[in-house]
Amino acid sequence: MSDEFRGAAESGRLDAGACEDPLLDVSGLVAGYGATEVLHGVSLCVGEGEVVSLVGRNGAGKTTTLRSVVGNVVPSDGSVVFRGEDVTRLSPEETVRRNVAFVPEERRIFPGLTVAENLRVGQLGGGDTADPRDPEEVLAEFENLREHPDRKGAALSGGEQQMLAIARALVAGADLLLLDEPTEGLAPYVVRQVEDLVNGLNDEGISVLLVEQNVEVALELADRHYVLDRGEIVYHGTSDQLRDDEAVLDRHLGVTT
Ligand SMILES: Nc1ncnc2c1ncn2[C@@H]1O[C@H](COP(=O)(O)OP(=O)(O)OP(=O)(O)O)[C@@H](O)[C@H]1O
Ligand SMILES: [Mg+2]
Repeated sequence: MSDEFRGAAESGRLDAGACEDPLLDVSGLVAGYGATEVLHGVSLCVGEGEVVSLVGRNGAGKTTTLRSVVGNVVPSDGSVVFRGEDVTRLSPEETVRRNVAFVPEERRIFPGLTVAENLRVGQLGGGDTADPRDPEEVLAEFENLREHPDRKGAALSGGEQQMLAIARALVAGADLLLLDEPTEGLAPYVVRQVEDLVNGLNDEGISVLLVEQNVEVALELADRHYVLDRGEIVYHGTSDQLRDDEAVLDRHLGVTT
């Protein structure tokens, strides 16, 4: 436990790290690759209807945390509970079926397929989810994409590709959306479009766990934040608490205030 974490506990800020009625409850997660342990006991939760961020520097273990939640990485200890059900060792296919949608960092869209075809592939992937959605209906919500259903993935801008990746995840049905650095490499005005999109989805009732290196985006979108450093959660707090905590911003996130 880091000094910050202990400090937060003593000052009562630890409350911001707990959820009364969690949709996603990650507890004591230990995971890695081969003999290398990357996560050393990560705990976090996302309440119904919340946007929660997981922020941290390069290599902190943010992506590994999301992969462990969806079952791409099998944890060696700890648990992942979704809607009260232990899903710790379920395959990614089984996790998707429970309406957990993961949009990875690499935005794996199919460059040779059109927007509409990419969405249909998303539907196949989630063919027997609890709550698949009509691709046309999802597309209608995406201002930038709906005008160009026949455009090839390769012809889309970075922002449009990001939105297509999110749309494709939604087609399979999503109550919880896991976003891995959705604004990485995007121009500021496109970042704002992605922010608007995520806010809109949250207004519809979709809960979000947002991984970001861009703390400004995390502060803008999320209600609560967890800071991950070298595989450990070293801090959690509300947006107001994090914004004011220069030591945490500087030491763990490299943001100078
Ligand atoms: N497939 C892999 N095999 C072996 N080691 C890996 C693999 N993927 C990630 N790692 C290592 O695990 C650690 C955490 O990586 P992870 O991708 O989870 O970090 P991250 O916080 O998402 O970083 P970034 O901000 O760069 O995306 C790093 O040291 C990384 O080198
Ligand atoms: Mg990553």
